[in-house]
Amino acid sequence: MNSLSVDQQARAAKAYVFQELAKSKQGLEILQDKDFVGRLDIHFIKIFAIFAELYGYRHDCLDQLVDLVTICGKSWLERSPELQKIDQQRESDPQWYMSNQMLGGVCYVDRYAKNLTGIKERIPYFQDLGLTYLHLMPLFLSPQPLNDGGYAVSSYREVQPTLGSMEQLRELASELRKAGISLVLDLVFNHTSNEHRWARKAAEGDPEHSAMYWIFPDRSVPSAFEQTTREIFPDDHSGSFIQLPDGRFVWSTFHHFQWDLNYSNPAVFRAMAAEMLYLANVGVDFFRMDAVAFMWKQMNTDCENLPEVHKLLRAFNALCRIAAPSVLFKSEAIVHPDYVVQYIDRSECQLSYNPLQMALAWEALATRDASMLSQAIERRHNIARDCAWVNYVRSHDDIGWTFSDEDAQELGRNGTNHRKFLNAFFVNRYPGSFARGVPFQDNPKNGDCRISGTTASLAGLESMQDHAIERILLLYSIAMSTGGIPLIYLGDEVGQLNDYSYINDAAKTDDSRWVNRAHYPESRYAERHDPHTIPGKIYAGIRHLIHLRKTTGELAGGRAVGFYTGSPAILGYQRPGPHSTVLCLCNFADSAQWIGRDRFMRMPVEAMDLVSRYMINLRDAGIELRPYQFLWLRY
Ligand code: GLC
Repeated sequence: MNSLSVDQQARAAKAYVFQELAKSKQGLEILQDKDFVGRLDIHFIKIFAIFAELYGYRHDCLDQLVDLVTICGKSWLERSPELQKIDQQRESDPQWYMSNQMLGGVCYVDRYAKNLTGIKERIPYFQDLGLTYLHLMPLFLSPQPLNDGGYAVSSYREVQPTLGSMEQLRELASELRKAGISLVLDLVFNHTSNEHRWARKAAEGDPEHSAMYWIFPDRSVPSAFEQTTREIFPDDHSGSFIQLPDGRFVWSTFHHFQWDLNYSNPAVFRAMAAEMLYLANVGVDFFRMDAVAFMWKQMNTDCENLPEVHKLLRAFNALCRIAAPSVLFKSEAIVHPDYVVQYIDRSECQLSYNPLQMALAWEALATRDASMLSQAIERRHNIARDCAWVNYVRSHDDIGWTFSDEDAQELGRNGTNHRKFLNAFFVNRYPGSFARGVPFQDNPKNGDCRISGTTASLAGLESMQDHAIERILLLYSIAMSTGGIPLIYLGDEVGQLNDYSYINDAAKTDDSRWVNRAHYPESRYAERHDPHTIPGKIYAGIRHLIHLRKTTGELAGGRAVGFYTGSPAILGYQRPGPHSTVLCLCNFADSAQWIGRDRFMRMPVEAMDLVSRYMINLRDAGIELRPYQFLWLRY
């Protein structure tokens, strides 16, 4: 830009912004708020530097910043005293989400409880279970009946009327907060639905709104982009673009009704910043940053995980630090592990899904060999300080085998063949498989395929195989103890099975992920207190795990450290605490397995197994683990 340092430029830009703000009554009010200005002083430089890099070539770059700071200031002035109090509390305890008391749950509002009122009525259950974090799947206005489970948003300021109203959402957020539960909502940043006001105007040909999306008059540029982009939902359309009725082409990474926003246009950045801060003021505690990998496009690249995406996220993060300081981000980047970690940073996303651990836990069940999972914990688990993984067993989506081919190769596995094996295993096309999954986006062109299915059905409960319950509990024991926030897909705690009814629904039949998005399993929940029933056994097991997690201080925050067990079927990891360490051992085989005593030579003679409360002698003859048994040894 010019020869001044970024610091000097930022100072000059801030002076300009302040001068412009001082011209209006509202601007003056913003400038008089000492808390706001104090935080702006700290974070302005980040936003300025990113704006200069992304949009500095534009003559109106500084005026864009004035608008942005105005949006932030207005939003802060409108933030309720209740939320400002939370901001203060969390600023003085910035690591609050690292606590071992943290426990997440996720559900669809309509499927789990009909509507927002139904969710409110379930708060006592959530509290009783121990939840401190509730992710409600997208609940905003969206096209009917096709809306990708709500991920096609038509307005970020309106709740889907069948679920309730914005006022009810605000009230729910407040009720949850009183119950000690944070509200997590998706921020679908990458795209809007084709029915969003911006999209409708774009479709009508309005130039200002057309510029909010990636719209091209003919196929030449789209075809050039498609030379290097991936097909994400090939069952919906091939390539990355779809054609509009007027002949133009619009970028749609996912479904044809989800149009990618064009962040190279600063108006899009500003508009989405306003939507984000609006929702922050409704009472959202965590934003799940949906499909972040795709937010920036660059010719001759795969248009995934580009450096600019990180800049955008950092700028959005800085806006929250200024105008809604308690709000945190969770990244949803289901991509190669090298890229997943790049999103995890206190100034970007403080939390991230752990898709590799999730996928490899299933991989280990299929192979009865924990080597890949163990390697991932050793090598891929280490994330920025003060950040946390969100560890899950299943989500509402498919399971994709996102491990690195190089990692697999080191263990003597060919990535492509191994994925083929896993797909065959989990859709029960492999002899001896216990899993009952359904293929998702089976792409014969490149052999890609992913897996749908509930935890219980994939673990063997549907096929009534031995050890299904042990498998479910084994996987949840890992999510509860490897470090970060464990996330329960609600219904899993009573062994929810696949729901094949989606096949008869024209709006869902082409999307097999609906098999694992079942309705509230009424009868299973009714049986949960009866230990003789299957739901009762699973529920008791999960409750026990929750209790153990919440009473084991070593599990707070941090991360798992690998422990070599010498037995491929047994996963080992340690959770060091300030005064003691917990060593977790998990047997992935359906037969008993041994760890020789030599592995414990540097440890005390005896350790307490927190799971069974028995003292275990580590020196006798080593340890035998029953099929799918896990031990948490404190020493
Ligand atoms: C995320 C969601 C998924 C959705 C996609 C597009 O990956 O988890 O359900 O289809 O984004 O929004």
